[in-house]
Amino acid sequence: MSGTPEMTEKAKAPSGTAPNAAPSPRYEPAVSKREKTIAPRGLRRAFSLDDFEAAARRYLPKPVFGYVAGAAETGRSFAANRSDFAAIGFVPNALQGHVDRSQKTTLFGRQYDRPFGIAPMGLSALAAYDGDVVLARAAAERGTLAVMSATSLTSLERVASEAGSRWFQAYFPGDKDRVLGMTDRIAQAGFETLVVTVDVAVNGNRETDLHNGFATPLKPTPRLAWQGITHPEWLWNTAFRTLRTHGMPHFENLDVDRGPPILARDLIRSFSGREQLKWDHVEAARDRWKGNFVLKGVLSPRDVERARAIGCDGVIVSNHGGRQLDGAVSAISTLPRVLDAAGDMTVMLDSGVRRGTDVLKALALGAQFVFVGRPMLYAAAVAGAPGVRYAIDLLSAEIDRNMALLGIAGTSEMTQDLLAMPDVGLSHRMTTGQHP
Ligand SMILES: Cc1cc2nc3c(=O)[nH]c(=O)nc-3n(C[C@H](O)[C@H](O)[C@H](O)COP(=O)(O)O)c2cc1C
Repeated sequence: MSGTPEMTEKAKAPSGTAPNAAPSPRYEPAVSKREKTIAPRGLRRAFSLDDFEAAARRYLPKPVFGYVAGAAETGRSFAANRSDFAAIGFVPNALQGHVDRSQKTTLFGRQYDRPFGIAPMGLSALAAYDGDVVLARAAAERGTLAVMSATSLTSLERVASEAGSRWFQAYFPGDKDRVLGMTDRIAQAGFETLVVTVDVAVNGNRETDLHNGFATPLKPTPRLAWQGITHPEWLWNTAFRTLRTHGMPHFENLDVDRGPPILARDLIRSFSGREQLKWDHVEAARDRWKGNFVLKGVLSPRDVERARAIGCDGVIVSNHGGRQLDGAVSAISTLPRVLDAAGDMTVMLDSGVRRGTDVLKALALGAQFVFVGRPMLYAAAVAGAPGVRYAIDLLSAEIDRNMALLGIAGTSEMTQDLLAMPDVGLSHRMTTGQHP
């Protein structure tokens, strides 16, 4: 197959050898032999994560696509997530080629083959058939992890047992009994890492959803039906197949008991009370939870400090992919400021990671691991697990190629002296915390 990272890289002289020298027997292509990257049907024209969006736009009904792609209000934070990555430059090492490059990363004592995983995404099973299982399985098959979302439509027990999922993200209400009950349920299912998202006191204002008539509970309208009819592949392969195999999807994981179906009129209890969630509740969950405890959605040193004070093991610096507070600073711009406050906590990041270069920039600035959201769900929607494996391979191949170009052999060598920070703009925001 032409155009895959593997083929492109194979055609080149390996790094560290003269152009006309015989390739070293130890040379490995950008995507190693054990991970033959084959683009699945529907993704043959996808050569980078950005290309997955167009494929998903064609495949998904407009309201579903809009829900995944959407951002809050003016899209300012969403745009900053990309432009702030772009503002950082590289200063590569010359003549330091390495033939053995490794992306292996240790996180909470476990080793992963990649320095990136898949962020939690609610309603995944609406966009992709069996989306939660597909994301978790594909991640595990590629030596990484997917975080299961609280607003998923698959029971957490099933994803733990069938896909070996070990990271669960919870949305807690401000009610201690419910918090502790849910914490116990997650532990009983065998999850090792509990991620508590703290940037959703209320849902962000996503006007795309209003324009498209998308809401939870889902309202069956003639417009929605028309969108289904005009997207027959999604209708058959995702919607009908889900109904036939699993029945009407429910919000399975918002509370101790199974939640209501997505068409239910009264979802109030399941989504209520998040404004009342306070540090005390989170601390109570921390004390109850025996495994790794992570806060997701923090952007300020004071919140990171607080997370450390209540005994968190890690934080995910994130603005929720620009879906919550419009104008919230990008995760990459605030990352250097939160590091001191983090102490020995594990610092991770998401929001706007699309390229291998983004992953490496985040690692250089002190993140130990990053997560990718939307593109992975687009991949799952269009092509299921093979699509997600392909997306992971593409990103991994970019990282590998960039490591060769930077002259490093391992991701731990990715340090700040390989970066050029902008004099204005991003660096200004880093020191002052202001977002223009
Ligand atoms: C469709 C969708 C659903 C999401 N649902 C959740 C969720 O249930 N819980 C959560 O903590 N974050 C959720 N997020 C945010 C992601 O975990 C992550 O922070 C964000 O997508 C990262 O940005 P990116 O999409 O630019 O990579 C969701 C994001 C998307 C796109």
